[in-house]
Amino acid sequence: MQLFLDTASVQEIKAANAIIALDGVTTNPTLIMKEGRNYNEVLKEICSIIKGTVSAETVSLDVDGMIKEGIAFSKIAKNIVVKVPMTVEGMKACQMLTKKGIKVNVTLVFSANQALLAAKSGAFFVSPFVGRLDDIGKIGMDVVREIKQVYDNYNFKTQILVASVRNPIHVLDAAKIGADIATVPYSVFEQLFNHTLTDVGIKKFLEDWEKVPKKR
Ligand code: G3P
Repeated sequence: MQLFLDTASVQEIKAANAIIALDGVTTNPTLIMKEGRNYNEVLKEICSIIKGTVSAETVSLDVDGMIKEGIAFSKIAKNIVVKVPMTVEGMKACQMLTKKGIKVNVTLVFSANQALLAAKSGAFFVSPFVGRLDDIGKIGMDVVREIKQVYDNYNFKTQILVASVRNPIHVLDAAKIGADIATVPYSVFEQLFNHTLTDVGIKKFLEDWEKVPKKR
C-alpha cells in the first residue's frame, strides 16, 4: 500500500520523507490555511521534494472554475493531481480534465455510489473520508470495503486513496482491505512506528548488554 502524507507543511513533509520515502502528498484548503502561505508557492515547494503525486484542491463550485483552476495547478509541476469535490459539477470537471491528460482526485467521497460515479468519470484517485464517517457514527472502513468490492467487480482502474485518517487502525484496515493508498497526518505517521513492547524490549536488551563482560 502506498503511504501519502496529508499536509501542506513542508517541514512535516521533509521530516517524514527523511525517514521513509513518501509515495505522495495530499493537500486541501484547510491544510493550506493552517500554513498561512500562498498555495501555489507551497505546491511548487512540495513538488520539488516529492517524486510521487501531490494533490491540489480546487475551490470553485462550477465546472468552468474547476477546469480553470485545474489547468493552472497542472502547470505548477508534472506530479500535480487536481482535487475536485464529489458533485455533479465535479464529475463534469473530472471527465474534462481527464480528457486533457490531467489526473483527478475526487474528494469528499462518503459512499460507494459516489465512488462508482467517480470511477465512471475517469478519476485517477477516489478519496473516501473515513474519519468523518466515523464522526457521525458510521463505520468509515465499511465504505472503503464496499468501494473495493465494486471496483474489483468491474475492474475500475481508479485508485482508492483512504483519507480523513485519524489513527493507525485506519491505516491497518485500509491495508487489510487492499486500498491502494492511505493519506495520513504527520501525527499518525509517527504513531505507525511506535509500540510500547518495542520500547520495553530495547530497554531490556540494553540493560542486559551492560551485564555482558566486555574485552578490555
Ligand atoms: O485528506 C482529507 C483530510 O485532510 C480530512 O481530514 O480529519 O479533517 O477529516 P479530517
